[in-house]
Amino acid sequence: MNACIRAVVRTAIFNNMEVMGIRHGYDGMINNEFIPLDASSVSNIIQRGGTILKTARSKEFMTGEGRTKALQNLKANHIDGVVAIGGDGTFRGASVFSEICDIPFIGCPGTIDNDLFGTDFTIGYDTALNTVVEAVDKIRDTAESHGRLFIVEVMGKDAGLIALRSGIGVGAESIVIPETKTDISEIVKRLSERRPNKTSKIVMVAEGDEAGGAFSIAKQIKKHLPDLDARVSILGHIQRGGRPSAMDRVYSSRMGFAAVEALMAGRTFEMVGIVDNKISYTTFKNAIKHQKELNPDLLRMMNILSI
Ligand code: F6P
Repeated sequence: MNACIRAVVRTAIFNNMEVMGIRHGYDGMINNEFIPLDASSVSNIIQRGGTILKTARSKEFMTGEGRTKALQNLKANHIDGVVAIGGDGTFRGASVFSEICDIPFIGCPGTIDNDLFGTDFTIGYDTALNTVVEAVDKIRDTAESHGRLFIVEVMGKDAGLIALRSGIGVGAESIVIPETKTDISEIVKRLSERRPNKTSKIVMVAEGDEAGGAFSIAKQIKKHLPDLDARVSILGHIQRGGRPSAMDRVYSSRMGFAAVEALMAGRTFEMVGIVDNKISYTTFKNAIKHQKELNPDLLRMMNILSI
């Protein structure tokens, strides 16, 4: 997110605009947390995780009163355009805000889940994938040495995109995601019948899978394979931090740059995305409404490569 903030600030300044950062997201809009930003306020942040502006999940912005207060503050601070970085919640809020907000508003997709329609990748997704792959490579050493099965849970409360790609990246035996129906007997079959002598086995589970999280899946597998030495590992919030990958820095910079150019071109209430390596725009409503389709080739390939 910092790389995106930097790009927004520098692009706007290059185009003779003044820039204010709003701390703590919508809460800061309501509580008047506006801070002036110049080109040097965003120096040395491209390599840092998180956001220098801080963030919050705002309950008050969900109320009409809160949104009215936010709009009044934007006007009092002479704001002519807003760039918001966030995921589902941010754009859901922006969508409702569009009913009263007459100030141009552009979004940049920031979520490790990559579950927004209208962009191939979201800010943070690639870094999270790299973190998961690095962690599971380490777990694989124990799995291999002890001949164990590891059930690894990754983030994704509604989407299995982290589990899918990281699962391919670590050579997982099975991937359990909310987009496909989970069949425990099929997983058991894969673990026991396909190369039964294989010493280490990894099952990647997206936290939002309908069959439950990693502990529940482990329990269900153990019922069928009681002799399997199985362990659960929940990677948690390490997935949401750390130095952003090169890919993330480039995408974030492109999106922040494009967001300012979109405001200058008169666009509003749209999310900037990158589709097939080109900048594209999607209304907030579509970005959050349409489920991103999983690439069926990836699933098919994963199934074959894990024989
Ligand atoms: O941003 C979405 C997400 O990464 C989910 O996959 C996960 O459930 C959630 O964030 C965790 O957020 P919190 O910090 O509120 O637990």
